[in-house]
Amino acid sequence: MKQLIILGAGGSGWDIVSIVNAINAVNGEWEIVGFLDDNPALAGKEFCGVRVVGTIDDAVKYPKVYFVSSIANPTNRIIRRMIWDKVTRFGCEFATLVHPSAIIYDNVTIKKGCVVNANCMLGNGACLEEDVHLAYACNIAHETVLKSHVTLGTGVNLSSGVVIGEDCYIGAGVSSTHDITVEPDTLVAVGAAIIDDLVNNSMKMWIGVPAIPIKEYIRKNR
Ligand SMILES: CC(C)(COP(=O)(O)OP(=O)(O)OC[C@H]1O[C@@H](n2cnc3c(N)ncnc32)[C@H](O)[C@@H]1OP(=O)(O)O)[C@@H](O)C(=O)NCCC(=O)NCCS
Repeated sequence: MKQLIILGAGGSGWDIVSIVNAINAVNGEWEIVGFLDDNPALAGKEFCGVRVVGTIDDAVKYPKVYFVSSIANPTNRIIRRMIWDKVTRFGCEFATLVHPSAIIYDNVTIKKGCVVNANCMLGNGACLEEDVHLAYACNIAHETVLKSHVTLGTGVNLSSGVVIGEDCYIGAGVSSTHDITVEPDTLVAVGAAIIDDLVNNSMKMWIGVPAIPIKEYIRKNR
């Protein structure tokens, strides 16, 4: 059995525990060592039956253990990459966790550090670069690419040939048409519809149906 530490003891971390349990029910692959979390109030406590065994800096004490990150924040998107960079600098390895209910078509790439929650679908030739997080029931059509450290909320629907840049946060229920580019470090708000490339917006925040820059959205709706 391989050992696993989950970075971040919150709701997404709990979901990762459930993914691990589902994987283990099929092939008994993982033993969870604990959570690492920088919140001092959680130190030594148990969360969903798993102990918080230290802070992120303590990753260095576990050179033989695999890691996975549950940390994502729509308004502080860079945090996910920063934690990946720190833990990688310690020489630690990341795991790849795919819920057994996910449907993975042919020639799909899922790189290390990725988490795929229950009922996701990945079409032919889809690619998840390193450290991508898909919440439940995301549909990623053929040849769509999610660059490193991207987070998708629940029920995101991306059509074919889409490229989501590094560090983006795509809110729950977002949909996109095909052959779209979303520039790195972009937030797409819950429920938005992407019908054109999301680029050249200095605030990097898009909202509404169709998705428009936040400043424009506020001007139109106030
Ligand atoms: C964009 C986002 C970060 C804004 O959150 P926030 O900064 O807390 O903003 P608030 O909720 O205070 O809303 C501010 C205003 O924007 C509006 N607003 C917020 N999100 C909106 C959305 N997705 N579409 C339309 N309007 C929205 C609110 O109605 C509010 O308007 P008001 O000032 O006229 O009352 C948030 O809506 C979002 O999309 N978060 C992603 C969450 C997510 O997908 N989680 C996935 C979990 S699996």
